[in-house]
Amino acid sequence: MKTLILCLVFLIISQAQGLNPKCETQEYGSTLKVFHIYSPCSPFKPSKPLSWEEDVLSMQAKDQTRLQYLSSLVAKKSMVPVASGRQIVQSPTYIVRARIGTPPQTMLMAMDTSNDAAWIPCNGCLGCSSKVFNTARSTTFNTLACHAPQCKQVQNPTCGGGACVFNMTYGSSSIAANLSQDAITLAADPIPSYVFGCLQKTAGSSVPQQGLMGLGRGPLSLLSQTKNLYKSTFSYCLPSFRSPKFSGSLRLGPTGQPLRIKYTPLLKNPRRPSLYFVNMIGIRVGRRIVDIPPKALAFNPSTGAGTIFDSGTVFTRLVEPAYVAVRNEFRRRVKVANVTSLGGFDTCYTVPIVAPTITFMFVGMNVTLPQENLLIHSTAGSITCLAMASAPDNVNSVLNVIANMQQQNHRVLFDVPNSRLGVAREHCT
Ligand SMILES: *[C@@H]1O[C@H](CO)[C@@H](O)[C@H](O)[C@H]1NC(C)=O
Ligand SMILES: *[C@@H]1O[C@H](CO)[C@@H](O)[C@H](O)[C@H]1NC(C)=O
Ligand SMILES: *[C@@H]1O[C@H](CO)[C@@H](O)[C@H](O)[C@H]1NC(C)=O
Ligand SMILES: *[C@@H]1O[C@H](CO)[C@@H](O)[C@H](O)[C@H]1NC(C)=O
Repeated sequence: MKTLILCLVFLIISQAQGLNPKCETQEYGSTLKVFHIYSPCSPFKPSKPLSWEEDVLSMQAKDQTRLQYLSSLVAKKSMVPVASGRQIVQSPTYIVRARIGTPPQTMLMAMDTSNDAAWIPCNGCLGCSSKVFNTARSTTFNTLACHAPQCKQVQNPTCGGGACVFNMTYGSSSIAANLSQDAITLAADPIPSYVFGCLQKTAGSSVPQQGLMGLGRGPLSLLSQTKNLYKSTFSYCLPSFRSPKFSGSLRLGPTGQPLRIKYTPLLKNPRRPSLYFVNMIGIRVGRRIVDIPPKALAFNPSTGAGTIFDSGTVFTRLVEPAYVAVRNEFRRRVKVANVTSLGGFDTCYTVPIVAPTITFMFVGMNVTLPQENLLIHSTAGSITCLAMASAPDNVNSVLNVIANMQQQNHRVLFDVPNSRLGVAREHCT
């Protein structure tokens, strides 16, 4: 009887959250399921389905804000202007399940490889959505005091009634949080005293509704806090949002990582230590290496220029000279004269095409992308676009961003101790 009631309560809760019971499968070991925010398992999918074109345009608009944000990170500016008047809900594209507190409360946190911070909306938060972590119901929850050593690791901490409080900007939003500590469980791994920001106030539309899990490598990041458990190593396989299988995986720690995988060195930009920079040295379209001025690809810690892998941007952005060279060769190879555009994509076709592969050439590793990572097709099949664009021209864009559509159905391994990033083809399940 008790079990039945529990099951019922569970069902009601999952339905209240809009979760498909199929999505509630158990997670084992150190591997979390990764859901696209538009997946049937996500409570954040638009309430009325968007048309294909609306989908693409809204993802592009979010990318624009994210690119501005990432550019501001490399340039160490703080606040990011919101793009052209329109309300843009910009938040990372993939979510994972975390269980926080004692007894555990489940939150679907956004995964962001370009951020260190972790924060969770807490009870009493102004501007957060309705689902919050109720700190009063957790017997293991603590607020950290101003003199706690961790308080020195957040940027611009202040003292609010003895509590360590910090403010920061994220995308086009600002947040205020109390530095806090509680138990968190990821898949089957308990992490007893995890330090995170307990959101007290948010303004703007970029804040992921149930919290942010930063997978960057700065001092208070998940990686730094779980060094003994996960050895600063993780990998993910990102599913396509159209994938009927719904989920991919986030595998934490060195166990179970692929052995056959190609690597390129990770580079560290002291101005922005949490971003995962790599050295991209060329781009091939089909078998031809396109002509790109070396400056467009070069890593430069003082300007922030270079190439990063990011899980939160959807479509790869290249600085203009690099993008133009790739696009021109792509068009030459496709040999269809009638090129049209859609939103920010300038290389679209209204007839079926045969596309060449595109290879990102990194030091020690070439990653050749097949059509599924390069082309987006409208549902009706009437338009096909090359799913990349040049960096937005209204920001100081020096950054090439290898984005999540180009990473889908690959395992991307972040091996921080050995300072390398690996990529291997994998069908995400
Ligand atoms: C956060 O800190 C403020 C004091 O700055 C306090 O009033 C508030 O209750 C704290 N919130 C939580 C959830 O601990
Ligand atoms: C942080 O944000 C809170 C709430 O918006 C505000 O009251 C406070 O003045 C801010 N503190 C700093 C140092 O900016
Ligand atoms: C080129 O595409 C446009 C837009 O789809 C169409 O209106 C036009 O007829 C096409 N031109 C040719 C020569 O196919
Ligand atoms: C990548 O491809 C280029 C030419 O297409 C080749 O010269 C180079 O050796 C390859 N690099 C690796 C690491 O396989």
